[in-house]
Amino acid sequence: MSATSSTNKKQAAITGVFGYVPDYVLTNQELETMVDTNDEWIKTRTGIEERRILKEEGVGTSFMATKAVKGLLEKTNTKPEEIDFLICATATPDMQFPATGNVIAHQSGLNCLSYDLMAACSGFLYGLVTGSQFIETGKYKKIIVVGADKMSSIINYEDRQTCVLFGDGAGAVLLEANEEGNGVIDSILRTDGAGATELYMKAGGSRYPATPETVANKEHYVTQNGAVVFKHAVKNMADTSAELAEKHGLTGDTIDFLVPHQANLRIIDATAKRLGLDSEKVLVNIAKYGNTTCATIPLCLRDFEDKFKKGDNLVLAAFGGGFTWGAVYLKWAY
Ligand code: ACO
Repeated sequence: MSATSSTNKKQAAITGVFGYVPDYVLTNQELETMVDTNDEWIKTRTGIEERRILKEEGVGTSFMATKAVKGLLEKTNTKPEEIDFLICATATPDMQFPATGNVIAHQSGLNCLSYDLMAACSGFLYGLVTGSQFIETGKYKKIIVVGADKMSSIINYEDRQTCVLFGDGAGAVLLEANEEGNGVIDSILRTDGAGATELYMKAGGSRYPATPETVANKEHYVTQNGAVVFKHAVKNMADTSAELAEKHGLTGDTIDFLVPHQANLRIIDATAKRLGLDSEKVLVNIAKYGNTTCATIPLCLRDFEDKFKKGDNLVLAAFGGGFTWGAVYLKWAY
């Protein structure tokens, strides 16, 4: 099947991207003073050199997401009242409820439908695909998908297995209809709830509400079986990306860029290798930000936006808690 022959419908294209990361830089060297780790281990096992941390008191994910959304509106010359719908992908909502998307929309001056979407590190891809459906059907004209996480709020900075991996940030894209054949062409999204025991935050939800014991037992932090997650991430991210590429006849030559979730450089390399991609086609900024969960892919689009040309073939791929994973094939629209 060719890339554009599958449908006659409108495609949802990304028409702008913006991001925000906090100023505070937590380096590997500073982590060496906090836990038994070292720069060399972190760099060679993960590719991470530093990450950003939101230090301001009393602000959460919506603080960063609102900066990304406001910046996106300004950059794309879009008036707040033009936005029909905002989807917030996050694993670290400001509060259990209301939806952080509602808060972001309010803080950004939007008067539109908004809600949250939870798919851990795959959240942005799920949000992109969800938003695309509303554009394709013609229901909405302008949609913002924002991926944002304050991972530092759920990380135990005494646990060397997890604290070196994550950072805070937000990235947002504007989706609009495209009739030139550019935009989201296809996607594969998958889940496997058996992974819930490998990567989770145990307490604070309805099953184990907060008690003095859950706090004392450090159950409000991320727990990860790194090796198991790693194995699944390598296999599933690569398999899904390859399946999608094959379906559309894409090869290492015809894919212009892979935009992977930034969890571990070795996972990214495995996916790139499977697609037969040269390293300059693989977009990587993990060294600067670590794993910002739902923000990795939009921050990567932001950082490398200048490289893209209209019509470029991009494969976006993610893996995360759930387990959740998937890949999106899109043609860049500007
Ligand atoms: N510094 C130094 N040593 C460490 C550190 C550290 N920060 N962390 C672990 N080690 C040690 C371990 O204790 C172990 O020591 P041992 O051999 O004496 O027992 C050794 O290093 C090797 O540990 P492994 O866990 O086998 O290391 P691995 O190479 O698997 O790397 C990592 C660990 C980086 C966590 C990797 O497994 C990984 O990236 N997993 C996937 C993460 C991911 O993709 N998560 C999904 C997205 S997150 C989301 O959805 C919210």
